[in-house]
Amino acid sequence: MVRDGSVTVRVPAKVNLQLAVGAARPDGYHELVSVFHAVSLHDDVTVAPSDALRVVVEGEEAAGVPADETNLAARAVLLLAGRLGREADVLVHLRKGIPAAGGMAGGSADAAGALLAADALWGAGLERAELLELAAELGSDVPFALVGGTAVGLGRGERLTPALARGHFEWVLALAEEGLSTPAVYAEADRLRAGRVLPEPRPSERLMAALRAGDPVALARALENDLQPAAASLAPGLHATLQAGEDGGALGGVVSGSGPTCAFLAADAEAADELAGALLDSGTCRAVRRAHGPVAGARVVEGGARE
Ligand code: C5P
Repeated sequence: MVRDGSVTVRVPAKVNLQLAVGAARPDGYHELVSVFHAVSLHDDVTVAPSDALRVVVEGEEAAGVPADETNLAARAVLLLAGRLGREADVLVHLRKGIPAAGGMAGGSADAAGALLAADALWGAGLERAELLELAAELGSDVPFALVGGTAVGLGRGERLTPALARGHFEWVLALAEEGLSTPAVYAEADRLRAGRVLPEPRPSERLMAALRAGDPVALARALENDLQPAAASLAPGLHATLQAGEDGGALGGVVSGSGPTCAFLAADAEAADELAGALLDSGTCRAVRRAHGPVAGARVVEGGARE
C-alpha cells in the first residue's frame, strides 16, 4: 500500500438517458427511475498526506467549485475518516473537467473519487458494498460515479442495477453559461406539476430495448427527462440550445439530470464532430465537449495498492 505518496482516481461524468421523477417523499427526496450513463468527461481526484484537511481545485471547469469543507470531496474524506476512526489529514486535489452545477454529477464524481482515493491511501480496503453505502450517504448520484457504465437507479437514484446494454455511443455536450441548483430544479418541477396525480416512475421499455440493441437512433428517440421542463423554465435559453442541436443534425437531445447541460446523441464520431461545430457556432452555449459512453466508473490511475 502507498502510505507516503498520493493516490489519483479518475471519475466520469454522467448523463441521464431517462429521468422519471415521481412525487416528493416525506423526506423531501423524489422517487426516481434514473438511467445513468457514464461518459468520457472526467475529474481527477488526488488525495495526499497533509497536516490537515485541505482542498485545491484546478482544471478547466474549476469555476464555482468551493475549496473548503463544504466540497463534497472533503465531506467524503471526513465521512471515511470518521468510519475508520482516524484524522482526515489529507490534501484533496481536484482537476475538474466536469462542469459544476451542470446536471452531470460533477460534485458526486469528486465525492466518489475522494472516497476511493482515501480508501487506497489509508490502506483501508473497504468492501465494494461498504463503499457504495458511504457513497449513498454522500448523495444520490455518488454510487453511480463508483460503478459507471450504464445502470438503472431506483429509490432516490442510489439503488443501482446494471443495464443490459451494448455498443458505444457518441455524445456532444453543450455546457451552459450559468449553472442550475439541483434542489431549485426539483422545486420548480413540483411547482409546475402541482395538483397533478403523478404516476409511479417506471423504466422505459423503449429505452431498455434500444440499449440492448445498441441502436443510437432508437436510443435518441427514447431519451426523456421529467426535469427538462423545470430546467428550461429556470433557464429559458435551453430551448434555443436544444433547437440548435436538432438543427445541427443530432439524432436526439435531452437536458442531463437537473441541467443545464444538454446531451446530444450523434450517429457516429464524424457526425458528432460536425454537430459540435454547429453547436459552438450557434452561440447558444458557453462551450461544447465531445464524449463517448459508456465508460468505467471511478478507478485508481496513479498510486494506490501495490503488490
Ligand atoms: O442526493 P443529493 O444530495 O445529490 O440531492 C441533491 C438535492 O436534489 C436534494 O436535496 C433534493 O432537493 C434533490 N433530489 C430530490 N430527489 C432525488 C434526488 C435529489 O428531490 N431523488
